[in-house]
Amino acid sequence: MSETKYYEQTGVAMTCRSFNEYKEMFMLDDLLLNKGKILDVASGASSFVAELSKRGYDAVAVDPLYSLSLEGMNDFGSREIQIATEKIDKIKDFFVWDSYESIESHNQIRINSFEQFLESYAEEEKYFSAALPSLPFEDETFSLIVCNHFLFLSRRTAHKTPATK
Ligand SMILES: C[S@@+](CC[C@H](N)C(=O)[O-])C[C@H]1O[C@@H](n2cnc3c(N)ncnc32)[C@H](O)[C@@H]1O
Repeated sequence: MSETKYYEQTGVAMTCRSFNEYKEMFMLDDLLLNKGKILDVASGASSFVAELSKRGYDAVAVDPLYSLSLEGMNDFGSREIQIATEKIDKIKDFFVWDSYESIESHNQIRINSFEQFLESYAEEEKYFSAALPSLPFEDETFSLIVCNHFLFLSRRTAHKTPATK
C-alpha cells in the first residue's frame, strides 16, 4: 500500500515569495499595477513590496509579524526558509518542478526574496503591523489589494434573541 505524504504545517507559516511569484499568481501587468496605491495583505517576508518600490510603484504591506525587530525578523525568516525547505525535500518527488526546476533553485528564490525584503523592512512607512479582519487603512486607499497564500475566514456572530420567560 502506498504511503500518504503531505506537507505538514501547524499554525501559519511565514513565507517569502518574490515579485515574479506574485506576478504569475495574480497575472499582474503594468496596467493593473499602474492604477494607484497597492496593498499586500499577509505579506510575510515577501519581497513583493520591496521590488514594487524599486520599480517605482507605490506599495505597502501589512502582517501581524511586522511587530518584530529587524533582527527578530531575520532570525524568524531564516528559520522558516530552512524548515520549509527541509519539509519540501522529504516529499519533493510529489511536486511538479516545471516552474521552479529544482528544490535548490526554489530555495535560492526564497533566499533572494528574503534578502530584498530585509533590506526594505527598515522603511517603517511601508510595513504595517496589523491583522485581518481589522486593517488600519481608510476605505478607497488602494487601487489594488493582493493576499497571497493566506486564507482568512471570518464568522459573523449571530444575534441571539434574548431568552423570554
Ligand atoms: C504563508 S505566509 C504568506 C506570505 C506571503 N504573502 C507570501 O506569499 O510569501 C502567511 C502570512 O499570513 C500572516 N498572517 C497570519 N495571521 C494573519 C492575519 N490575521 N491577518 C493578516 N496576516 C496574517 C502570517 O504572519 C504570514 O506572514
